[in-house]
Amino acid sequence: MSEVNFNITANDKAGRYEQFLEQIKPCIEGETYEVSLLANVSAALKEVFGFLWVGFYLVKDKQLILGPFQGSMACSIIKYGKGVCGTAWKKNTTQVVPNVDLFPGHIACSSLSRSEIVVPLAVQDEVKGVLDIDSDQLATFDVTDKLYLERLVSLIVNTIYV
Ligand code: SME
Repeated sequence: MSEVNFNITANDKAGRYEQFLEQIKPCIEGETYEVSLLANVSAALKEVFGFLWVGFYLVKDKQLILGPFQGSMACSIIKYGKGVCGTAWKKNTTQVVPNVDLFPGHIACSSLSRSEIVVPLAVQDEVKGVLDIDSDQLATFDVTDKLYLERLVSLIVNTIYV
């Protein structure tokens, strides 16, 4: 993945995601290695959107292990069905959590985290990992984040797993 100087000028969330995806797409598609791609996508999301924590957990030995991320140190292992990440894996669906304190079994890696979105990286029924994004504000994520982050994840999956 080559250097990208993001030029994000839109004022609305959808517009910002549109510009982000357009600018990062050629970089993702030119990448071969899983760790490099996931590391750069984490960095790009953190830089452009300023989220508290952005990263990937990867399925290994029937659990989720911490992968490339940007932010503070986090839990290194999450079990199937546990927390928001483990639930996204088990259900193979995106989890949008407006208030992490109200999510049963939420795993608090940071006391600053208030809301969260987790998008599975799946090839049909097989979940390879999840994208996890945390915010220090309540209700940061909505259907717009879900739509565009799922598009981003599908670009990633088609590049490194298909
Ligand atoms: N809160 C997550 C754990 C991962 S950290 O937020 C980085 C969860 O409940 O799955």
